[in-house]
Amino acid sequence: MAKVKTAFFCQNCGAQYAKWQGQCNACKAWNTIAEELIEKPEKVGWKATTNTTSKRVSKPLKINEIDTTEDARLNSLDAEFNRVLGGGVVLGSLTLLGGEPGIGKSTLLLQISLKLPYKTLYVSGEESQKQIKMRAERINPNNSNCYILTETKTQNIFKQIEALQPDVVIIDSIQTLHSDYIESSAGSISQIKECTTELIKFAKETATPVILIGHITKDGHIAGPKILEHMVDTVLQFEGDRNHVFRILRANKNRFGSTNELGIYEMQGAGLREVSNPSEILISKKDEDLSGNAIAATLEGMRPLMIEVQALVSTAVYGTPQRSATGFNAKRLNMLLAVLEKRAGFRLGAKDVFLNITGGITVDDPAIDLAVIAAILSSNEDEALQNNFCFAAEVGLSGEIRPVQRVEQRILEAEKLGFSTIFVSKYSKISLKNTVIKIQYLSKIEDLVALLY
Ligand code: TYD
Ligand code: MG
Repeated sequence: MAKVKTAFFCQNCGAQYAKWQGQCNACKAWNTIAEELIEKPEKVGWKATTNTTSKRVSKPLKINEIDTTEDARLNSLDAEFNRVLGGGVVLGSLTLLGGEPGIGKSTLLLQISLKLPYKTLYVSGEESQKQIKMRAERINPNNSNCYILTETKTQNIFKQIEALQPDVVIIDSIQTLHSDYIESSAGSISQIKECTTELIKFAKETATPVILIGHITKDGHIAGPKILEHMVDTVLQFEGDRNHVFRILRANKNRFGSTNELGIYEMQGAGLREVSNPSEILISKKDEDLSGNAIAATLEGMRPLMIEVQALVSTAVYGTPQRSATGFNAKRLNMLLAVLEKRAGFRLGAKDVFLNITGGITVDDPAIDLAVIAAILSSNEDEALQNNFCFAAEVGLSGEIRPVQRVEQRILEAEKLGFSTIFVSKYSKISLKNTVIKIQYLSKIEDLVALLY
């Protein structure tokens, strides 16, 4: 009987060992090493047939002879998706889409398959064809270019691909695939590695773009070996708060474009809607002025976003005052409160302070600091700010108002949305001319207090 070959893999980072050990040398995680069956195959993975209909034959070319006029990207007809990818799906590229369960990965890619004006093969290992059809009917029922396959074995998938010759292949999800050449179960490190390698070979040899869905682990990393992220061309992350409707698509890695671009969607009854002007939705329209609300002109990636900050300051009932922040770093909130107390003389030590960023969005742009301070002051004084004010500056430990990057872009966005005044740092470099919006320069927190009250 042939000897069964096994190896030990860290389930966290994918490092391979000859024997079991308690701690992984590579990622230092404990108890993550498990034995998996491996089998050395004679022929591995995707094999183009001899009468190949390969769309690309590779031979060396001088760099200035390379033709770039030919369309190297497929337009997905989804503006947000195109933007994040850097202008469309690159031929022969492998894209990995990660995200928490239930966030809408399958919905997003099914929706894109239904929109694509190309022959698309959507391979699902998670849902049946009927289930997918039901979902598709909610989104866009009339598309004759989209084919659905429920299969998990890569060899069978390649057989179907060869018969169908699709322009785009979508795999939902990489963790459900398994290859005959590896013995271990689907979702194990060695299977994920092998299936991805086969798909890469297929994508490069036929210039067909492949999009993979990947599950993420509890701590937010894509499940499977870290090298999976190195193997693919683009890693996209789909995130958002499941209890809110907004979803953000960002590129963590992109060989064909910037990683600063951001796509925003709204989850609706009939799928995901592209949000082309997020600021208008994030700011709640209200007739009456409420205290404790301030608008921050933030940037997410390259996109300006006007975000509403809400604060509630009240007298503490219990001995120790509570501080809590949703969508904002709680340590930073404590720091800003200390600055307000020390530099501007506000007695907040005996008050409860609650802070909330509306829309279920988490902000780490430091430019939100000034809006946080303004919201806290407004709630503390129980006096509403004018609702056409907005803020864009960082606040330092000595109460100084510091400039933020790309402030002009923020000012133009605020002007476009009809704000009357934007508060920025005195040290911001602004060369804008003919702006209608009033730019209010501040150098210390005291300036803000004096201007507001
Ligand atoms: P799904 O795409 O299945 O998530 P994932 O593949 O990331 O696990 O998304 C499921 C959620 O999306 C589910 O909670 C219902 C919601 N949804 C809508 O709100 N509207 C829709 O049209 C669809 C298809 C799903
Ligand atoms: Mg899914």
